[in-house]
Amino acid sequence: MTKPKIILGIETSCDETAAAVCQNTDDGVQILSNIVASSADLQAKYGGVIPEQAAREQLKSIIPVIQEALQVASVKPQEIDVIAVTEGPGLIGSLLIGVETAKVLTTVWQKPLVPVNHLIGHFYANWIINQQTDYSLPTTAKDERRKTEDLPTFPCIGLLVSGGHTDLVLFTDHGKYKHLGGTRDDAAGECFDKSARLLGLPYPGGPNLSKLAEKGNPKTFKLPRPMISSKDLDFSFSGLKTAVVNLANSRGVAGVGAPQQNPKLIANLAASVEDAITDVLVEKTVRAAQIHNIDQIIVAGGVAANKVLAKKLRQKFSELKSRGVVYIPPPELCTDNAAYIATAAFYNFHPANPLTLQANPNLSLSS
Ligand code: KG4
Ligand code: ZN
Repeated sequence: MTKPKIILGIETSCDETAAAVCQNTDDGVQILSNIVASSADLQAKYGGVIPEQAAREQLKSIIPVIQEALQVASVKPQEIDVIAVTEGPGLIGSLLIGVETAKVLTTVWQKPLVPVNHLIGHFYANWIINQQTDYSLPTTAKDERRKTEDLPTFPCIGLLVSGGHTDLVLFTDHGKYKHLGGTRDDAAGECFDKSARLLGLPYPGGPNLSKLAEKGNPKTFKLPRPMISSKDLDFSFSGLKTAVVNLANSRGVAGVGAPQQNPKLIANLAASVEDAITDVLVEKTVRAAQIHNIDQIIVAGGVAANKVLAKKLRQKFSELKSRGVVYIPPPELCTDNAAYIATAAFYNFHPANPLTLQANPNLSLSS
């Protein structure tokens, strides 16, 4: 089967409603449009995602978001070669909106449908060639583009750090990978989010905690680095979260209002939490590369937008491997969007039967 040229991607695994149009060029996959509508205002109000509410919002926005993606890209439905959709994992109500919409569109427009595992999809943000920052605007000739030789090659170690997942993967080719380790309890993003909430920071926790941490001293509090010395490539963040709870309670600074009442202390706590989480992520990722003698690391997922993680990982990897390269997508491609779903479908072009495809909330890296 010939590779598609124009791909419409659809992503609705959590609270975002996202659609993107990507085009294959001689250098690789380029974004023509990337539209993300999120119910962030509602989540900020309730302190997190309420699944039924997220799905209701997605039902309202899915068609307008797809229409906008086509309009910004100046692409007509008949010009699309394939539709890619997140099959799972995620919230079932949310996944259903994307999968059922994609099934209807592929049937009406007579296009192949490619299901994408959201976790693998995240990594494909590293294979997108244009790095412009406002994807709600049409792509222009001025946008910075990467060439084929700037893209990751195989083998490479993948670190996925999102709100629900923390995983290390060894990629030997597109679609060929081995799961090396993962979290035994909380994900890194969850630890960021729960610590942020405890420190009285608004939703979304991770980016807000990280922003405040810039003003703090990461060495103020000695927090645990769980499993940092264990020989395996697994993670555990629940103990760290408990240590943050105990520390904040012992200082009497937990909860709403804390950042206003104790700005310096909360900034120091935020910096110490970020330091502990990123130390563990860096140590285990570099160890995975050492064990498997790999020169390239690709990072993906919302937490990949964390600047301290990027700095420490690049520094440590370059100390150990002079030819070591760490690929990290620009922040807006790290968090959930449909452009990486479209890109993943290009590199893993395996159409499914729209009549039998089902959203799978429990899809894993080994599915
Ligand atoms: O990949 P993603 O957008 O959604 C999931 O698939 O989970 O990741 C969201 C996670 C949240 O936990 C959020 O707090 C975290 O990514 N995050 C960050 C940063 N930006 C997003 N964590 C730390 N520092 C950041 N700058
Ligand atoms: Zn995600």
